[in-house]
Amino acid sequence: MTYLVNESCIKCKHMDCVEVCPVDCFYEGENMLVINPDECIDCGVCEPECPVEAIVPDNAYSGTELEKWLDLNTKYSNIWPNITEARPEDVPDDAKEWAEVSNKFEEHFSDKPGKGD
Ligand code: SF4
Ligand code: F3S
Repeated sequence: MTYLVNESCIKCKHMDCVEVCPVDCFYEGENMLVINPDECIDCGVCEPECPVEAIVPDNAYSGTELEKWLDLNTKYSNIWPNITEARPEDVPDDAKEWAEVSNKFEEHFSDKPGKGD
């Protein structure tokens, strides 16, 4: 089991989650974070930290949805830089406006890396 970041993170990117992870397994893209499923120890402490509920246990998904988010988190956590400290100054100014937007993955996902630590 692992926890996964889903599309709710896209363009919100609050980064509260990275501060609590005991194994530092968050990785930063340009407009979202992902979790490395091989490093996550399933402690669950990050889940309630996210203001937009973008972090979910993998058993919340099944079938193609599980495959999609597991693959995305696995792939990009092996490409993007590690992030262990939140940067409040880099939280998007319009994060609140993106909180309820749907289809963010299809329309707004960026495969570019973020800054990392
Ligand atoms: Fe880190 Fe625990 Fe969240 Fe996994 S569940 S990403 S180990 S805080
Ligand atoms: Fe994203 Fe939530 Fe973390 S918006 S950066 S998963 S606190």
